[in-house]
Amino acid sequence: MSAMRPAFQLNGEPAQVDARGDEVLIETLRRLGLTSVRGTCGIGVCGTCSVLVDGRAVSACLTLTAGVAGRTVQTAEGMTAPDGTPGPVQQAFLDNDAFQCSYCIPAMTIMVSAYLAEHDEPTVEGAREYLQGNLCRCGTYPEILQAVASLVQRRPPPQEDSSS
Ligand code: FES
Ligand code: FES
Repeated sequence: MSAMRPAFQLNGEPAQVDARGDEVLIETLRRLGLTSVRGTCGIGVCGTCSVLVDGRAVSACLTLTAGVAGRTVQTAEGMTAPDGTPGPVQQAFLDNDAFQCSYCIPAMTIMVSAYLAEHDEPTVEGAREYLQGNLCRCGTYPEILQAVASLVQRRPPPQEDSSS
């Protein structure tokens, strides 16, 4: 398959990479040193490779690198401030001991971040359903949902629409 050179935004910075036409995003991101993107099943079942493309969660093992040309890609590395300070979702995971081996955790934080961004009135139950495709072999689900609960509680209520 012929080589390509897609350009995209990666964690807020411009990126352009050589990639095979059949190369999937997880291969490219791992080659670029983004080790938060983790492969397990390779068939879109486990969720450990979740990243955001244009703000939507996708499985990097099923996404062609050529397909992200001109788009924005965010990994868990992009949730951390340049000085290394964890982002709010990452901090909530830390505060609630929501990790054991941590293999699944970067993808979990990506998914929680996507869930909160997509829902004006997030709930723990809603997050539980949203995370159904993300598996944790260590069974850290209660602590992850505790972290979600702390984020949901902190969120200001949605603004009333004063235009109507
Ligand atoms: S490695 Fe991509 S969903 Fe499992
Ligand atoms: S913390 Fe070990 S797989 Fe989730």
